[in-house]
Amino acid sequence: MGLVQFISPRIGGDWSMSCRSHQPISLLKMARMCNVPLPVHCQKGVCGACAVKVTPEGKQQQLCLNVFEKQTLQGLGKLPAMLAGEDQKLWKGPYWRLACQCIVGTGDQFFVAF
Ligand code: FES
Repeated sequence: MGLVQFISPRIGGDWSMSCRSHQPISLLKMARMCNVPLPVHCQKGVCGACAVKVTPEGKQQQLCLNVFEKQTLQGLGKLPAMLAGEDQKLWKGPYWRLACQCIVGTGDQFFVAF
């Protein structure tokens, strides 16, 4: 089961929302299932409107960025240079991800700040 804890300094206070999924889905779909108001625009990994800071909880995770996500995060200056050249790397975060492109696997647990 994927588990994501959303937090938002923009919303303020101690606001947070916990979401679960029993199948791999994007962070954006998970947010929508739980009525989390993530900013979004193109939903194709191009505009960067859905950039969020993701911190994996527990074990290290494989960082799998598709071409769109990698190019957009690089353009925004939000992709660490050490990750730019490789497709997969173990990571601890926090790292910027695009909610519309980041897939939450059934064993993943993330903290997501937006
Ligand atoms: S909504 Fe545009 S990159 Fe995700």
